[in-house]
Amino acid sequence: MTHLIFLPLNSHLYFVVIIFVQSISIYNPKTKTKTKFEISIKIRKKMGEYCVTGGTGFIASYLVKTLLHNGHFVRTTVRNPEDESKVGFLREFNGAKERLKIFKADLMVEGSFDEAIQGVDGVYHTASPVLVPYDDNIKANLVDPCIKGTRNVLSSCAKANSVKRIVLTSSCSSIRYRYDVGEVSPLNESHWSDPEYCKNYNLWYAYAKTTAEKDAWKFAEETGKDLVVVNPSFVVGPLLAPQPTSTLFLILAIIKGERGEYPNTTVGFVHIDDVVGAHILAMENSKASGRLICSTDVAHWSQIIEMLRAKYPSYPFENK
Ligand SMILES: NC(=O)c1ccc[n+]([C@@H]2O[C@H](COP(=O)([O-])OP(=O)(O)OC[C@H]3O[C@@H](n4cnc5c(N)ncnc54)[C@H](OP(=O)(O)O)[C@@H]3O)[C@@H](O)[C@H]2O)c1
Repeated sequence: MTHLIFLPLNSHLYFVVIIFVQSISIYNPKTKTKTKFEISIKIRKKMGEYCVTGGTGFIASYLVKTLLHNGHFVRTTVRNPEDESKVGFLREFNGAKERLKIFKADLMVEGSFDEAIQGVDGVYHTASPVLVPYDDNIKANLVDPCIKGTRNVLSSCAKANSVKRIVLTSSCSSIRYRYDVGEVSPLNESHWSDPEYCKNYNLWYAYAKTTAEKDAWKFAEETGKDLVVVNPSFVVGPLLAPQPTSTLFLILAIIKGERGEYPNTTVGFVHIDDVVGAHILAMENSKASGRLICSTDVAHWSQIIEMLRAKYPSYPFENK
């Protein structure tokens, strides 16, 4: 008979203990009787505790769910833990009651992530604004939270000796925007977007992600912290949160014909399951290192619309 027991050892570590119960004979010379049993305890696997920043986000919520499913203790950060309409779904995940802690943290507040990160084995830094209106507030709404926020999270990691590895969610946007793209293609992990190109073409998301990732590599070099970066392309898949988040709003707007036009660009797409798998491997596989592009098919938005229109002909998709 085999029993699986989750044995808490302290606040952030626990082991899966497997107890095998087998019958063997033990002879007692005093009583001249035989007792038949043996219990052998085998420590199978040390389970880490992880912090995922921005748990309400599309990718982060999948990470929280998967880590809980895999038996880990998980901490996640949100800006407003009291907002049940945004955060409540995280508490419904299997294992959340026993193993999920939700902390309040804001990317723009220095030291905000200290408590959530102190004591964990690894940090998935995923929180970042993604698609926001490109207006006069672009610096405050996108660039600063992405760049300064990443610095804040990393400085909390530097204060926590427990943190063995940081997995940063960067983007293919940190790779693909540069003047010489035609000459150097196909692009790979060695390529970087050019911040000057991004600024000149108002590509503020790409500018922010490139700068934040470069800062993170500098931080890793200076502090000796183990950093692995995942660079996904456009992530698609079903939503866990009750309300759509930024990239899903873009797809909905295209499906509903609300924008007036679809983006005239070709992008890489990747399924959320692959993105989550890449993050988990990046954290747990000791051989993982460097940047990991996570992307599958490349398509123009017009092709995506045609594919969806064939399946859902009654929706008022963008026509141009
Ligand atoms: N989705 C994609 O296609 C894609 C592709 C490549 C890379 N990425 C990267 O993957 C990460 C997650 O993307 P996503 O699509 O999952 O994002 P998302 O659904 O838009 O969620 C963004 C998360 O960031 C949090 N956040 C934003 N500003 C914050 C602030 N000032 N302080 C604390 N938290 C803040 C949000 O928290 P609130 O709930 O409080 O707003 C939310 O949890 C990002 O780093 C993004 O750049 C995404």
